[in-house]
Parts: sequence; structure tokens; C-alpha cells
Amino acid sequence: MPQIIVEGGQTLRGTVGVLGAKNAVLKEMAATLLAPGRHRLTNVPDILDVALMSEVLAHVGCHVDRRDHELHIVVPEELEPEAPLHLVRQMRASIVVLGPLLARCGIARVAQPGGDDLGARPIDFHLDGLERMGASFELVHGELIGTVSDRLIGAEVELPFPSVGATENLLFAAVLAKGNTTIVNAAREPEIRDLVRQLRGMGADISGEGTAIIHVRGVDELRPADHRVVPDRLEAGTYAIAGAITAGDVTVTGCIPDDLRMELRKLEEAGVGVERGDGWLRVIGPERPRAVDFATLPFPGFHTDMHPQMVALLSIAEGTSVITENIYDARFRYIGELRRMGADITTEWQHAVVRGVERLSGCPVLAHDIRAGAAVVLAGLRAEGTTVVDEIHHIDRGYEAFVEKLASLGADIRRTG
Ligand code: EPU
Repeated sequence: MPQIIVEGGQTLRGTVGVLGAKNAVLKEMAATLLAPGRHRLTNVPDILDVALMSEVLAHVGCHVDRRDHELHIVVPEELEPEAPLHLVRQMRASIVVLGPLLARCGIARVAQPGGDDLGARPIDFHLDGLERMGASFELVHGELIGTVSDRLIGAEVELPFPSVGATENLLFAAVLAKGNTTIVNAAREPEIRDLVRQLRGMGADISGEGTAIIHVRGVDELRPADHRVVPDRLEAGTYAIAGAITAGDVTVTGCIPDDLRMELRKLEEAGVGVERGDGWLRVIGPERPRAVDFATLPFPGFHTDMHPQMVALLSIAEGTSVITENIYDARFRYIGELRRMGADITTEWQHAVVRGVERLSGCPVLAHDIRAGAAVVLAGLRAEGTTVVDEIHHIDRGYEAFVEKLASLGADIRRTG
């Protein structure tokens, strides 16, 4: 199996660029299903999840062509409204085809996603909201079968939690529904704003994105469009922490620093120098950071997908940090890996207490999920000796050329297999 091998102790310096956001492009690929014809997405990262979503689109009948960070997607008039288990199992985000398939075909058969490495991750908010808009669901042998008798009908839907995926599925259903939809307690993430920009380019009538209340006026049909994917704030934040944890000086280009405000603020509190401008940010790491507390929350709070990387940094801080994880019930699994590297971290319910240590020591570790994988690599950059990371297919799901980009900043890192 391929592994990433890191020899710790190098100070990272230089400039690294980021591409479009995984968590935007996957949904924007699903959005193309809403309009037959030829769509073009640019600034698309070459990552495993994009390949998996391409398979989902091909399965429903699209022709997908990937080259040079662009995706050309030809959507047919007639779709095969199905996302089978082997695809949904590999990538939970496949569930976002539910809304577009229901809107276009009046029926959708999507394998019920189980839990994953981050916890139970139910989809009840998606289904409740779609039911409010006239869909009905039944679960038959592990497959969710959604049907709409005539056309989806606009409705007012209150989400119990500002779920990113539920907001997206409801947007997809609403843009082609009859009448008006209001999504209350909608997710405010930058990736949702970007998705709305794409949908608007396709002719959708949406307002309020980026706030907790989104209004959609349904239209009869949409047209294909070109769209440039918003920069990946998680990729940018991960390289920022790579600079910080090695007491380095790293500039990240192609990013939107405002999309990382809370994370950058916490880095500053930890004693990391942060400069930012239009499309770039620069971090200058201290010899050892200071302890800081943080709690993960929906945007604009601290992103749960930056939590493991931040804890890697705080594991070598002076002082004790308290972390509260509010989004996922199983996010802390990576902590056992950091502990093997010498970190002093205890967990209790949704809290972790990180007592900073002076040094970490390299050892074999596992990447439990995408961000856990990034975090153990970052810890390896700072650790004494060799860190060998297994299960790196998780990292490939979300980071293009992770090893090459870190090496270009001066890391002693390679990939085997
Ligand atoms: N939730 C429910 N019921 C639902 C939907 C969500 O209980 O019907 C709960 C979830 O179990 C979770 C919380 O609400 O505890 C938030 O889930 P949300 O729906 O917001 O997350 P998601 O859409 O499944 C996306 C990203 C995740 C990211 C979260 C939170 C994609 C493909 N995934 O997931 O990204 O952590 O939003 O920002 O966009 C990653 O990139 O590593 C990743 C896991």
C-alpha cells in the first residue's frame, strides 16, 4: 500500500498555490444535472473525490471529460436517476445528487449512506426538507427511493442545524420547483455562496446566500453555464499550518483569506504572524506557538475540517489548549495517532485537552480521514525522526499533490507505492 514518509525537522519556506474547493466542486458537479447541455467547471482540483463524483455523473448518463483542472460535463435530456451503493459508499457526498435527480426526473434511487469515519452522519434534514417540498421516500433493501408525483413545490423549510449538504439538496430541489422556497437556518459556508453563483449563472433566481435565510423563486428550466470553483480554504489553511508548525515562512496564493477569518485569528492568538492581501496569505511561525482554546462551529465559526491540523500545531504549544468539537461525534480518532508521536492529549466527550509538549517523535501512524491524514503529516514535519503514514488514500481524496507541494516548500517528504 502507498505510504507517505516524512523526515521531520525542516523549516518550510516559500510559496504554494491552492486550487478550487473540494466541497464546492463536488456539489457544482451535481448541480450540472439540473440543466441538459454542456457545462464547464474551471479551477478543479485533481483529487480522488472529483474522480468519484465523475463516476456518479457518468452512471446517471453524463459524459465527463477532465483535463488541465477543467471539467467538461455534457448532461443528457434523459437521466438514469440512480446513485448505487458502491459509489455512495466510497463517497458520502454522492447524496447531493438526490435533489437534482428528483427535480429533473421526479424519481431518484440513491443508496442510503451509512455512517463514516467521522460519525453517524444521518441525512434526516435532507429528507424532511424534500418531503416538505412534495417528495416521498421509502427505504427498500438499503436503497432510498424518492418520488415526486408531479413537480416539486416551493415551501418554507426550517433546518434544525445549518447542514451544508441539506442546504445544497434543498437549493437543488427549489430552483426548479413550482413557486417560492425559503430555507431558514441555512448553511452560510463560502462553498454555498459559490454554488449559488453557479446556479445563478444557470438562470436560477436565488437571494440571501451567505445568510441564514435563503429565498428561491423556482423557474421552469435552467441552462448550462461555465463556472470557476471558489478556492479551497481548507487546502490553504492546511499549508498555512505547515508553515506555522515548522517555524517557517509560507505564502499561500490563489486563496481568499476572508474565508478563513476565524482560523487565521486563532493562529494569530497562538503567536503565528499572519499577513494577508487580495488572493494570498503569509504565515510566519514562532519557535513554539502559544496554547489557544477553540470550538468548531458552522461558518463563520472555526471549521471542523481545520480542527485536526490546528491540534497538531497546538500539540507543541507552550501551555494547555481546550478544544470543543461541535460538529462530529467521531472526529477525535486521530488523537491516538498524535499521542503515539508523543503528544499529551486527553479527550472527554466532545472536548480535548492538549498539554503542549516540547517535541514530537516520528513513528508509524494512520490517516483516519482526510483531515486526520493532513494533521499527522503536519505533525511529522515537526517531529524528530521518521513518520510513516498509512491509509493515505484518504489524503488523496482532498489534496492534489500534497507531498509535492510540501516538498516544494522544503519538506523532506516522499511517497512510496
Ligand atoms: N446532520 C444531521 N442530519 C442531516 C444532516 C447533517 O444530523 O440530515 C449533522 C451531521 O451528522 C453533522 C452535522 O449535522 O454532525 C453537519 O453536517 P453537514 O450536513 O453540515 O455536513 P456535510 O454536508 O455532510 C460537509 C463537508 C464536510 C464538512 C461539513 C461541515 C462536503 C462534501 N463535506 O459535509 O467536509 O466537514 O460539511 O462543514 O462538502 C471534509 O472535507 O473533510 C469534510 C468532511
